[in-house]
Amino acid sequence: MKVFVTRLLPGGALDRLAAEHDVEVWPQQMPPGREELLARAAELDGLLSLLTDPVDAELIAAAPRLKAISNYAVGVDNVDLEAAAARGIPVGNTPDVLTDTTADLAVALMLGISRHLVEGDAYVRRGEWRTWETGLLLGHDLHGSTVGIVGFGRIGQAVARRLEGFGCEILHTSRRAVREGAGAVREGAGSARTGAIPSRRTGAIAIQVQLEELLERSDFVSLHSPLTAETRGLIGDEALARMKPTAYLVNTARGPIVDSEALGRALRAGRIAGAALDVTDPEPLPGGHPLLDVPNLLVLPHLGSATEATRARMADMAVENLLAGLAGEPMPHSVT
Ligand code: DGY
Repeated sequence: MKVFVTRLLPGGALDRLAAEHDVEVWPQQMPPGREELLARAAELDGLLSLLTDPVDAELIAAAPRLKAISNYAVGVDNVDLEAAAARGIPVGNTPDVLTDTTADLAVALMLGISRHLVEGDAYVRRGEWRTWETGLLLGHDLHGSTVGIVGFGRIGQAVARRLEGFGCEILHTSRRAVREGAGAVREGAGSARTGAIPSRRTGAIAIQVQLEELLERSDFVSLHSPLTAETRGLIGDEALARMKPTAYLVNTARGPIVDSEALGRALRAGRIAGAALDVTDPEPLPGGHPLLDVPNLLVLPHLGSATEATRARMADMAVENLLAGLAGEPMPHSVT
């Protein structure tokens, strides 16, 4: 069958796909444009897309033979799931394999922004390090702090597990059921307060609260929700105004969950202590974007899952999903 893969993937997964199907891989660094995608649509049986490729209703309608969409990401906000479901096209994603890698980066961002890691490095490179100073680049502690996790799914829970080691108090907002499994956190009987979730390993608790309370009490607010109509713009002027002036915002989820202009205003006015973003709106954030001029902002180019092992596992999973979808079998990981 005819398959289009919108970028080269790491590891050997694409060889397995090419062994069974007629595969075209887009070879360039930049994503294929709209015209390129639409030009191939009519012939396409399978599509392996990245989060940068909008797989919308128009594209799906232009692909009458399309049998399977496999997205190389856990997030599927770039895919019109309703349009795919209306045609009975399964949509695969890559959960679990990137959970720990992304959670590691969220904690790195908490430390990076609160302990001035980037400024410290730049200070040394500028040759300004002349002596040990009592007041140089003083930050705030992550250990012992209160961390609010917005979206307590796989990655949010993995962040909570890491922060148990930092002695943090964990607040979270999600009402969804938490998964059982090795090292997972789960609802425990007899917790002191409704929604308190003791960890199976250490007994530390993550307390479920309303978003407003989480924003008001947290020293770090870390975002882990999918991008949906409900979460788009969730962190705007009002939410930022609720945060403590000493608090940090960390986003490793999706850029549009945060209103970039509101964040710029809050940082310029010193209404929060800082923000660390792995994802932005717009994404990519162009050089010269006003957000890059605001103080106390650390920005990364969407590196949450960016380790060699994880990106290769994501490729394996994306290919397994596509192979199954094209064979008319249930995808190992599908969202539809
Ligand atoms: C995802 O998978 O959704 C991440 O944002 C990139 O790995």
